[in-house]
Amino acid sequence: MAKLTQKDFLKGTIKHIDMKKYNVVPMVEAFENMAYSSRDLARASKIYHQMLSDKNCSVILCIAGSLISAGLKKIIVDMIQNKMVDAIVSNGANIVDQDFFEALGYKHYLGSQHNADDNLLRDLHIDRIYDTYINEDELKECDETVHKICNSLEPRPYSSREFIWEMGKWLEKNKKGKDSVVYNAYKYGVPIFVPAFSDCSAGFGFVAHQTEHPTAHVSIDSAKDFLELTKIKIKAKETGLMMFSGGVPKNFAQDTVVAAEILGAEIPMHKYAVQITVADERDGALSGSTLKEASSWGKVSTALEQMVYGECTTLIPLIIGYGYHKGAWKKRKATNYVKFLQDEDKKVAALKAKENKAKK
Ligand SMILES: NC(=O)c1ccc[n+]([C@@H]2O[C@H](COP(=O)([O-])OP(=O)(O)OC[C@H]3O[C@@H](n4cnc5c(N)ncnc54)[C@H](O)[C@@H]3O)[C@@H](O)[C@H]2O)c1
Repeated sequence: MAKLTQKDFLKGTIKHIDMKKYNVVPMVEAFENMAYSSRDLARASKIYHQMLSDKNCSVILCIAGSLISAGLKKIIVDMIQNKMVDAIVSNGANIVDQDFFEALGYKHYLGSQHNADDNLLRDLHIDRIYDTYINEDELKECDETVHKICNSLEPRPYSSREFIWEMGKWLEKNKKGKDSVVYNAYKYGVPIFVPAFSDCSAGFGFVAHQTEHPTAHVSIDSAKDFLELTKIKIKAKETGLMMFSGGVPKNFAQDTVVAAEILGAEIPMHKYAVQITVADERDGALSGSTLKEASSWGKVSTALEQMVYGECTTLIPLIIGYGYHKGAWKKRKATNYVKFLQDEDKKVAALKAKENKAKK
């Protein structure tokens, strides 16, 4: 038998679903009169529609798991382009390994969880996410591009939001990734925070950069991320959380209420909250903890929250698709929190210049 090569496995590609094509409103509304998960899903969809209808509410989207590689990229891009989200908190895998990776021109491939020979895949430099394949050699290009971006920047600490903005700028300069989350967030002024930024492909680029430049290098300031997101919460006052999966982004966004309190700001808890997850609450861990539980910590109001238990690829097109087709976003104004944070940075730079002048 002829020896199998990468080409035998990397054939059909993952296609990103276009929620604009499917008006799910009548089906989701029919779910309201059913039971169990369908009724939970209908309530979650209505809460998202309420977030978008509330002109004082800023929507924070939290993303964990592997969702961009699974075909949900276009939904997130459509959310950015249609003012259905004001800030994003994500894990690194979605933003760097998957979105930025595709922005460089690479694809995710239809694989199989049933008959995968993982040793053979290993030999062929193919990585597997359940039923999806990735060309590992291409993924290394993604690490290398992050490395190059690091080398091109002034050596200092950056919030992940600042660094991801630089990634968007790099895409614009190199005319790549017009359909990516990173590029569209850059273009539309939606900040993206990745609180555990080194825990993905970006980490490899940073390790290489810092080894080459041991005394003066680019680093990520995770505390600045938290301060920036807290500043957004204070400015926005009313907020709604749309949480895909759980993980670090869920807690990071929820905790801004507590951080704002510590800064002496009088701001409300997150007014709306929806989480879609397969995690359950029995292990006491964060991902499965209910939004009711979060209210005992003073983070989420209990009136308009909904957990939906199930896998994201099937539920997100319904919940976000409902929000899209109901159309409340048409009356929303763009918040451009990137500009707000850049203005905050300018204030700090001016303060620093004043202090330096006084020292001389
Ligand atoms: N996900 C990946 O394949 C991957 C790849 C490289 C690096 N990483 C890094 O590993 C760290 C942890 O990964 P994580 O953020 O995905 O956290 P995680 O694996 O802990 O997932 C968070 C929670 O979301 C649930 N969940 C995940 N996918 C879901 C889905 N499709 N539908 C419903 N629920 C879902 C999980 O069951 C879990 O309870 C991150 O820093 C990330 O950057 C992840």
